[in-house]
Amino acid sequence: MSEFLPTGIQLSYLVAVTLFFFGLKKLGSPATARRGNLWAAVGMFIAIVATLLNEEVLNYEMIFVGIVIGSVIGAITAYKVEMTAMPELVGLFNGLGGAASAMIAVGEFWRFLSAAQTPPLPTTITAVLGVLIGGVTFTGSLIAFAKLKGIMSGSPITFPLQQPFNIALLIAFLAGSVYICFSPFNLPVFLGIVGISLVLGVLFVIPIGGGDMPVVISLLNSFSGLAASAAGFVVMNNLLIIAGALVGASGIILTIIMCKAMNRPLTNVLFAGFGTGETSATVAGGGGTTDKSVRTIDPEEGAMMLGYARSVVIVPGYGMAVAQAQHSVKELVDMLEGLGVEVKYAIHPVAGRMPGHMNVLLAEANVPYPQLYDMDDINPQFEQTDVALVIGANDVVNPAAREDQKSPIFGMPILEVDRAKHTIVIKRSLNTGFAGVDNGLFYKEKTMMLFGSAKDAVAKLVSEVKQL
Ligand code: TAP
Repeated sequence: MSEFLPTGIQLSYLVAVTLFFFGLKKLGSPATARRGNLWAAVGMFIAIVATLLNEEVLNYEMIFVGIVIGSVIGAITAYKVEMTAMPELVGLFNGLGGAASAMIAVGEFWRFLSAAQTPPLPTTITAVLGVLIGGVTFTGSLIAFAKLKGIMSGSPITFPLQQPFNIALLIAFLAGSVYICFSPFNLPVFLGIVGISLVLGVLFVIPIGGGDMPVVISLLNSFSGLAASAAGFVVMNNLLIIAGALVGASGIILTIIMCKAMNRPLTNVLFAGFGTGETSATVAGGGGTTDKSVRTIDPEEGAMMLGYARSVVIVPGYGMAVAQAQHSVKELVDMLEGLGVEVKYAIHPVAGRMPGHMNVLLAEANVPYPQLYDMDDINPQFEQTDVALVIGANDVVNPAAREDQKSPIFGMPILEVDRAKHTIVIKRSLNTGFAGVDNGLFYKEKTMMLFGSAKDAVAKLVSEVKQL
């Protein structure tokens, strides 16, 4: 190979990383997200081709087989996955990324040992770090996947002395790692720290409630980036170091955004055992049953209120996602607009169960981006809104977040639908949402409940609006 090639590869890496940067930037807005994804994918393609040109590649056949198998599995799963199942798919991919990084670290370490050479100390340290972060990411992500998929219960799993036990394991890992740095040829100790890192991943995630898994997945995503970065240092590959750092940083930023939007510190998400993953469960403080009364309306009355309004704000939530009602919602909005009603959508940052959940669903139904309003932009507009139509949302419109200091969601920023002239809430019952707290909105004078499954109820509204 010519001497020029490594420089050529490095330059290609630079192009790839630049595409990653701009791709990420474009992912920041729904309007440019698809293009951002494409740019990053092109960057990854360039990175793979450049890496394959490296003269140190030993076995092209194995790589080719791996690429074919991986691409086929990736394409089929991405094509078939339901939008609501996206967090678990991302969780699984993170886990495999973590495992791959850990294996790179172990492989490089092994290369020295099998040549009976003592690995340099920095290689051993980064290999041990890669094993820890990659191992925790792998098993932690598998547990997150199992909780979201319903393979295991979403309830927090705890046992006596759990935290001291975790700390003891971590200390054992550190002690084993220090030992390996000075006696790298001791195989049982090395395998021991690999085993501990895998167990730590399981123990890290089991005490966290199923509903908090998207936050955990985002955090593990960040870990998988750090593991990749560590692997990059082990094999001295600039691209892996930078791409890993980008994943690490964006994952942690997303985690912080989600925690802020729920007004819960990360420590609360990780250690408080909040939420069970069962949306309609009635838990402490929750109100599946109550002696307060609510006003109900039928689809005909609902259609009249909407059809004769000047302005309507649609507030989608988790229930709309579960019912897959987004297409019916778009149909309803088109009809209202045909009647001269001004319609906007209000998007809460943690509505649903994953970041951008509502944006993705509404984009699927071809709702134009300019019609989507962030919380800060729409909240001042509710007072001038004739009807706020809440579809399967609960916590994100709960005024207790503003009014009840004792509420677990006090301080969480909400969509202030109770300030609209009228509010119609579509859901199946008075059951609580993810946070398990009763919602005073349902009992307010200006609120009308339209009970039913979101898709069904919206379809009935559509057929009634047609009659107007
Ligand atoms: P929730 O508060 O979870 O409420 C959803 C409501 O949808 C439930 O009360 C349920 O009431 C209703 N529902 C369920 N199936 C339905 C159906 N088929 N048709 C109509 N309604 C249905 O949802 P939200 O307001 O979107 O809030 C999201 C919650 O998830 C927040 O607490 C947030 O902190 C949490 N969370 C979000 C994220 C992200 S990143 N989005 C991550 C972790 C946690 P019925 O049973 O009465 O129908």
